[in-house]
Amino acid sequence: MRELDGLLRTHNCGELTKSNVGNEVELCGWVNKYRDLGGLHFIDIRDKFGLTQLGFESFGGDLAILKQVSLESVIWARGKVCERPASALNKKMATGEVEVQVIELKILSQCNIDKLPFLPTAKVEATEDLKLKYRYLDLRSQKLQKMLKVRSNAAQKARNTLIDAGFTEVETPILFKSTPEGARDYIVPSRIHPGKVYALPQSPQTLKQLLMIGGVDKYFQIIKCFRDEDLRADRQPEFTQIDIEASFVSQEYIQNLATKLMASLFNLSEDFSISVMSYQDAMRDYGCDKPDLRFDLKHHIFTDIFKASDFKVFSSVAQAGGLIKGIFISEEMGTFSRKDTDSLIEVVKPYKGKGVAFFKIENGELKGGISKFITAEILKEFPENGNGTWFFAADTDHGISHACGDALRRHFADKFKLHSDGYSFVWINDFPLLEWDRDLKRFMAVHHPFTMPKKEQLDDFLNGDPTDPEGPLKDLLAEAYDVVCNGYEIGGGSLRIFDSKVQDQMFKALGFSKEEAQSQFGFFLEALDYGTPPHGGIAFGFDRIIMILAGTDNIRDTIAFPKTTSASDLMAQAPSGVSDEQIKDLHFKWD
Ligand code: AMO
Ligand code: AMP
Repeated sequence: MRELDGLLRTHNCGELTKSNVGNEVELCGWVNKYRDLGGLHFIDIRDKFGLTQLGFESFGGDLAILKQVSLESVIWARGKVCERPASALNKKMATGEVEVQVIELKILSQCNIDKLPFLPTAKVEATEDLKLKYRYLDLRSQKLQKMLKVRSNAAQKARNTLIDAGFTEVETPILFKSTPEGARDYIVPSRIHPGKVYALPQSPQTLKQLLMIGGVDKYFQIIKCFRDEDLRADRQPEFTQIDIEASFVSQEYIQNLATKLMASLFNLSEDFSISVMSYQDAMRDYGCDKPDLRFDLKHHIFTDIFKASDFKVFSSVAQAGGLIKGIFISEEMGTFSRKDTDSLIEVVKPYKGKGVAFFKIENGELKGGISKFITAEILKEFPENGNGTWFFAADTDHGISHACGDALRRHFADKFKLHSDGYSFVWINDFPLLEWDRDLKRFMAVHHPFTMPKKEQLDDFLNGDPTDPEGPLKDLLAEAYDVVCNGYEIGGGSLRIFDSKVQDQMFKALGFSKEEAQSQFGFFLEALDYGTPPHGGIAFGFDRIIMILAGTDNIRDTIAFPKTTSASDLMAQAPSGVSDEQIKDLHFKWD
């Protein structure tokens, strides 16, 4: 696209080629490098588009300015595009066949190089904390410039795909009321209503459903969500969702739409499709609901096989109703030293694992670890008995066995670089509707409280006893689905309850009294009674999608001004104190 008039430059720093030779041009940018080769002076001028070499052989001014201007200062240069001599060609630079012989140079803004915390182009990177404190300097790096472009392009593609599919973009409030998604809310006290607060939305879940009740039919929004939860490499306290809701649709419609959206964002072919796995199969085979399928390494279940074994650790786990999972690493994938096997305990410790048992098979002979307990009868039951090593995670708590098995699977894949190239997508369907929280002694919604139970289980749901952890409620499945890419949960959604009786029962099942449900969700429950279309939707974690597209494993890389894992903004020093006056205005008191 042609640039608009009114720019201070004629070209950017990445676009001059041989075809411009002879042109007089004006460039603006940062001083990336300065060289004085025995009286021949060069500056590399940089902007987000690239670098251009400036020469000073026909400079009209005083060359002393070159000594004054420091790296990272902003300059303006007018000059003539010249072909570089053959000896000075730079094939690595897009503009490497030309240089601009400067006629006039202005320093627009001098950089205080003595105070500059780090050079954004330095080969040795500054620490992450320093880079976050001076994020605007780090943003000058090519890596982050590229990231912002990837993000902007992806948002554009998402908008185009959804608008083409008949969706309307609608904005919803940020100052709202608590909508539970499993994390704590960020709260904003009200000045006008003493003692009352707004909550920042964890997602616009009830709002998008109200839009359906409002007849919007197909809604989307690229929106910030706020969750006060424990942060990780793929979690930020404020993050962005591509949020979607549609009326009169089935799960198939939402999944088809989501597939189309992914094909567009990830530049995949028209016939791209996403395979489907049930939650139960994912847990059995991979020990998690977001398996990375770029590598195989399935779990195998050995609980029954070890029930009568002499290896007491395993027989007691098996007899107590626990779970024993195993993974086989063939000799072709990798081999293990004593130090390697000893250190595996560190891999499972964070998941409450108590150990990692193993044995090796070498040409039919069993060696090391628990090999003395593996009788011929037990070995017969093993799905693999070629050369390699079997590893096991066992616990009476199935969740711990799954989590340790998953941690081992990911550890081995990283260690032996087993990942295939490209993207590996999978739908995880048939999630449980509810799970019992042992501490709170009540059921929790696995997705959220607005998710529809499976149609065929509706009666069990309506008649189930919310106080019985072993009753029928524990086995119900939800009309809920997640989409997983390369081991990241990049989206999740469900069909929604659209009958207030079912919604009432859901709040009851979650331990809400009638009054609590009314005070928190009265506005929503009432709306369900005034004509609600069947509807469903999904929300994508936009930052996570950008992580995968940009090939980073740190969500902070994808966000212009991110927060640390302790939810701080190191640049602005947020959160920060406020004046006594503001506190008084807001009618709140610190302890
Ligand atoms: P859910 O809670 O599964 O669903 O969130 C949807 C997607 O948002 C991303 N995500 C996050 N990304 C970064 N940091 C976080 N703290 C974070 N939390 C979630 C994930 C996740 O898959 N309202 C429902 C959606 C619906 O039912 O339509 C919801 O928010 O990629
Ligand atoms: P022990 O008999 O406790 O010395 O354990 C023998 C082997 O079993 C060691 O390699 C332990 O790491 C391993 N082990 C112990 N507990 C477990 C467990 N819960 N799951 C898997 N392996 C275990």
